[in-house]
Amino acid sequence: MAPILPTTQLPPVEVFAVEDRAAQLTWRRLPDGHLVARIGDAEHDLGPAARPGAAEIGGMEPGTEHAIDLSVDGRLAARTSIRTLDAMAGPSIKIATVNDLHFGEDGFGLVKQLRDRHTDPYPLRCARSAARDALDWGAELLVIKGDITCHSRAEEWEMFDEFLADIPIPVMAIPGNHDTIGHVRSLDPTIELQRRGLFPEPVTARQVGGTTIITVDTTLPTQSHGSVGHRQDDILAALDVDRPAVIFTHHHFEDRPVPWFWPLGLRYRDGTPLIESLLEANPDLFFSAGHTHRNRMRRHKSAVITEVSSTKDYPGVWAGYVLSPTGIRQVVRRISDPSSLHWTDRTHAAVAGIWGRWTPGPLTQRSFDHAWSRDYDAISGPSQAWSSPSA
Ligand SMILES: [Fe+2]
Ligand SMILES: [Fe+2]
Repeated sequence: MAPILPTTQLPPVEVFAVEDRAAQLTWRRLPDGHLVARIGDAEHDLGPAARPGAAEIGGMEPGTEHAIDLSVDGRLAARTSIRTLDAMAGPSIKIATVNDLHFGEDGFGLVKQLRDRHTDPYPLRCARSAARDALDWGAELLVIKGDITCHSRAEEWEMFDEFLADIPIPVMAIPGNHDTIGHVRSLDPTIELQRRGLFPEPVTARQVGGTTIITVDTTLPTQSHGSVGHRQDDILAALDVDRPAVIFTHHHFEDRPVPWFWPLGLRYRDGTPLIESLLEANPDLFFSAGHTHRNRMRRHKSAVITEVSSTKDYPGVWAGYVLSPTGIRQVVRRISDPSSLHWTDRTHAAVAGIWGRWTPGPLTQRSFDHAWSRDYDAISGPSQAWSSPSA
């Protein structure tokens, strides 16, 4: 297997995420000094140009092409452009998701392992920073979708407690294959999650902002791949046919009968019939998975199927969902804390640099809007359905 190479080709400045009025810029290296972004006649003071760094630029016009000049101490350092998404109609509520936190991991890479020299372990540092970013963004619910730990050991669940201690909003959680790995000192992840008031059932539903949020446990004890067909009746029972649904799993839905990349997820013959039978009951379904440590989006009939990459390796992200009666927005953002960016940028070079090219996915598959087939405001009414999640 190829070693980690010391050099990598990260873009110097990148538009990593976009919404209707805001965009996230990330950069690997800019000159030392004071950073200012100019968009048309407007100047946005972004503070010191930390390296690496990330910044949100707000106050943008929806559905518009914007040219952005980045200056450091008055000198043009980079130039980029962005098209903002269209404005969403109706009231909206924001929720967020993280996955593949891998508490307990202490190195990254297949043969030669990258090590972190920071005093805070990088999985906890990245996960905490992701949660802080999601809270600042306005998330009212956090869905943690598996691979919380590396080996489900007691000290890894203690790290999870440290993570949860900083989160004041309701949390939903499901295990991943790393949590059910079944090593000698592994604890039962179901018991560990339930002890923390999480994961009450393998299929759990919650109504948020007129949308049904469903988490589905797809793990198979000691197996890396997952299974979902046996959950069909429970998911159908959790679906409300008069509301759209966002369905969270750890494992991804494989897109071909013969898997073509690692890791294995939900086999095509298992996952695709499930999606089709759910679509017969409700055409407005949005799936969000982890496990692959990459960002992707595809469509299957009227369903949107996404994968969100890990918090703790390149690009190091969390995902936000804006729920409205007319549709859903996904925005995948890099974790903005410089010490987390410093670590995840290093992992860009893993697997001979393939990691950094494979995992980010295109901007259009990270940040996008999807319109539901019906206007749910007209069906359920905002006063009844548009409520925040309760703790
Ligand atoms: Fe993972
Ligand atoms: Fe996984």
